Amino acid sequence: MHPQVRPATLADTLPIATLHREAFTRQMGSETWVHATLSAAPRMLAFVLDLEGEIAGYIFWAQKSGIRPEATLELDQIAVAGRHRGHGFGEHLIRASLALVTEALSSEGQRIKSVLVSTRADNAAQQLYAKVLGAKVVASIDGLYSATEVIMLATLNQVPDEQAD
Ligand SMILES: CC(C)(COP(=O)(O)OP(=O)(O)OC[C@H]1O[C@@H](n2cnc3c(N)ncnc32)[C@H](O)[C@@H]1OP(=O)(O)O)[C@@H](O)C(=O)NCCC(=O)NCCS
Repeated sequence: MHPQVRPATLADTLPIATLHREAFTRQMGSETWVHATLSAAPRMLAFVLDLEGEIAGYIFWAQKSGIRPEATLELDQIAVAGRHRGHGFGEHLIRASLALVTEALSSEGQRIKSVLVSTRADNAAQQLYAKVLGAKVVASIDGLYSATEVIMLATLNQVPDEQAD
């Protein structure tokens, strides 16, 4: 199999919504959620993992707190189809899409300073984010969504914080 990571388009709404429904069973309105996300570039940047014509995963990145020269991105959501998990596709999706985001932001004069990501404290995705992004848990919020949520941060570029917001 030759996994390909490419930007998502509105034509990908239904297959992404199907993956969303399967992966996030506590959430509702999959199609609405996905359609709104795909319509929100450059605030949201969406990519799919194409496995020989099958949309087998997706990832949403968000630019936080405006369009900044030193951007903080949030890994907003990622899912790989159940039957394809555990084969390195999640890792590939993060790495390849982050490279595409880096390129896209660079063409707008931006660079990525840090990446935020949050997940349920009991979700194995924590290991994925630590491994691929070098993200570390910086906070934990009880009951934020459905349970305790950990907030993880990866600093990609060390830049002096000279200016106030
Ligand atoms: C999280 C998710 C995207 C991972 O995708 P995946 O393709 O199965 O992940 P990979 O095979 O690329 O795993 C890469 C690394 O992540 C970590 N990892 C992934 N799944 C793991 C698990 N169940 N337990 C422990 N570590 C895990 C490991 O470090 C793994 O590296 P290794 O195989 O060298 O140990 C997938 O499980 C998924 O879609 N889950 C449902 C949706 C979800 O929970 N998304 C995250 C919400 S915050």
